[in-house]
Amino acid sequence: MEIISDITETQDRCLATRASGQTIAFVPTMGFLHDGHLSLLREGRKRGDLLVLSIFVNPTQFGQGEDLDHYPRDFERDESLARAAGVDLIFYPSAEAIYPAGYATYVTVEGPLTTTLEGACRPTHFRGVTTVVAKLFSIVQPHVALFGRKDHQQLAVIRRMSADLNLPVDIVGMPIVREVDGLAMSSRNVYLSPAERQQALVLSQALDRGRQLVADGVREVAEVLAALHAMIDAQQDARIDYLLICHQATLREQERIDADSVLLLAVSIGKTRLIDNGSLLNPQDF
Ligand code: PAF
Repeated sequence: MEIISDITETQDRCLATRASGQTIAFVPTMGFLHDGHLSLLREGRKRGDLLVLSIFVNPTQFGQGEDLDHYPRDFERDESLARAAGVDLIFYPSAEAIYPAGYATYVTVEGPLTTTLEGACRPTHFRGVTTVVAKLFSIVQPHVALFGRKDHQQLAVIRRMSADLNLPVDIVGMPIVREVDGLAMSSRNVYLSPAERQQALVLSQALDRGRQLVADGVREVAEVLAALHAMIDAQQDARIDYLLICHQATLREQERIDADSVLLLAVSIGKTRLIDNGSLLNPQDF
């Protein structure tokens, strides 16, 4: 397994791979790998001759007061997990290399896809995500890139960007990986105290309850949301940032639940902000 920090070296290596007729599968991450990332790497291993993992805690997607400085990092652990997952190349650039002095170019997906939900709480977040993902695609030149569906909105935004910019990369969304008790895997779960970890289960429990209500025949969004609000508010340290039912692709809010409905929620448990989502009528996530 190669570890390359230099942008030109990585790009040359990937361009040579493409030129030789081999395919490149790419998993972009901010490191501190968990089982969710490993499921992306497993799928990437099947889909590409060269499997590239990037590890880069991208400063432009963090707002002021967010956890950039404290974002968990453990490169040695990531390296051994990546090796075991069959990664061929870790691209591990510095922030100065990605955003050198004088850097001035940003990629923005406009409209409700980026201004609602996470975008409403974190106004510069998606501009940072699309900018870095566009740059990473340009460096790694992947045929296929894999993203977790836990960040449902991020996936929708990246699909939009890739389609709008005619990027020749197949964007694949992979199912959410959960702990046995239902908590969606996230690098931020390490911040939770044992008591908060218990309360954090309310996110997946709310999804289950929403699905149950829909299975029982409820189709009014307002009725489902009222029940879930009450359930989450009952947790002492839980504060809802958003709890919405939207169309899975446009992210427009819906009034009635249909096959395209996705429940999206962001809940802070103490100081830790967690997100989760899932389809309500379809057995599988979008
Ligand atoms: O999902 C993430 O880890 C990040 O948002 C991504 C896609 C690697 C961009 O920094």
